[in-house]
Amino acid sequence: MSTIAQEYMNGERPGPLTREIPECMRDKYTVVQSIIDLIVFVIVTIGYIIRAIYRFIVGYQKKDLKGGVALVTGGGGGLGSLIALRLARLGCTVVLWDINKQGLEDTVKLVKGIGGNCYGYTVDLANREDIYRVAKKVEEEVGRVTLLINNAGVVSGQYLLDTPDHLIQRTFDVNVLAHFWTVKAFLPTMIEHNDGHIVTIASMAGFIGVSKLVDYCSSKAAACGFDESLRMELVSKGINGVHTSLICPFFIRSTGMFEEVVARLVPQLNSNDVADRVILAIRTNEPIALIPGFFRVLLPFKWLVPWKCICDFINVIVPDAVPHSVQNTPTTVLPTKSDPLHTKRDSRPMSLVPPERHDRQV
Ligand SMILES: NC(=O)c1ccc[n+]([C@@H]2O[C@H](COP(=O)([O-])OP(=O)(O)OC[C@H]3O[C@@H](n4cnc5c(N)ncnc54)[C@H](O)[C@@H]3O)[C@@H](O)[C@H]2O)c1
Repeated sequence: MSTIAQEYMNGERPGPLTREIPECMRDKYTVVQSIIDLIVFVIVTIGYIIRAIYRFIVGYQKKDLKGGVALVTGGGGGLGSLIALRLARLGCTVVLWDINKQGLEDTVKLVKGIGGNCYGYTVDLANREDIYRVAKKVEEEVGRVTLLINNAGVVSGQYLLDTPDHLIQRTFDVNVLAHFWTVKAFLPTMIEHNDGHIVTIASMAGFIGVSKLVDYCSSKAAACGFDESLRMELVSKGINGVHTSLICPFFIRSTGMFEEVVARLVPQLNSNDVADRVILAIRTNEPIALIPGFFRVLLPFKWLVPWKCICDFINVIVPDAVPHSVQNTPTTVLPTKSDPLHTKRDSRPMSLVPPERHDRQV
């Protein structure tokens, strides 16, 4: 470090600002500067709002995804497979990652069946080395990934004190940490080409805490924070060709996760509608999509009204958030000789069988 820099840090040399402003004016300068900053901020905000209203009325321009390589994690079933079908129809080469081999094979067949170009890879997203290894393979065998959709997710669905440690670990490994490893694997080439899009499928549970979903909600809140801070980082580095989108749906019908969950007042979402909404968010570079959209109006109330109201409201709309598959699964993990504290990590999804009502429309 230069001696000048060292002197600045030791406070022996006044900084450029302190040198230029006389001592008696410093406080006033700070106040005046703050007022100017505020006025500029308000003007810029009004500009952005007018632009958003204009775009809302005339419609957003949709980008062409044809020729790109889209990687969908958890693409072997549920929402991931529906997104894959839509991407293939739009002309993307689709790469699917899933731990469920059968689901993966079925989805690859489905995508190829509609004339799409599709590759399936068996990956355990709870395993960092596996992610890095297969990411390298994809770049060699398929090409540069231009669209990364971090969609895979798991849920434990038990009271916190009943949830075995390995399931909590698994929730964070798949729902959050996997996003770090996939982004670290594919973002460098996106930045190099100043072209790419990273999609985080989080959940409304990232904003609202629900009983029996402590690990799930906190992992989804982390995923929301991941997307926002990554977006800020790209902006601060001046990378304008790589976009991020955060998708936060309410409970979805007919996927393998919250099938038959009890929800009142707000109806469960149709999985095909959610997949369509994800594609729209990608094609319009939308930074955040709450599904259904009216949650944008409801969410701020969380910080405005007394907590008791929020608590009662959440209990009314989600009286029981336990997924159907968990209700029918014995939850007790018995200790074994080789694993006396039953700490063995299990990264498998709760259910490998897609629900019967799962209809995959394109
Ligand atoms: N279903 C809902 O109500 C709902 C609501 C809000 C958000 N989401 C989110 O949407 C995303 C998709 O959910 P879904 O409803 O399609 O669930 P799903 O269970 O049908 O699909 C999840 C997919 O992830 C895969 N997966 C799980 N663990 C894995 C692992 N370790 N390695 C690789 N793949 C793994 C599963 O095999 C499955 O194909 C998830 O992130 C979920 O949290 C779902």
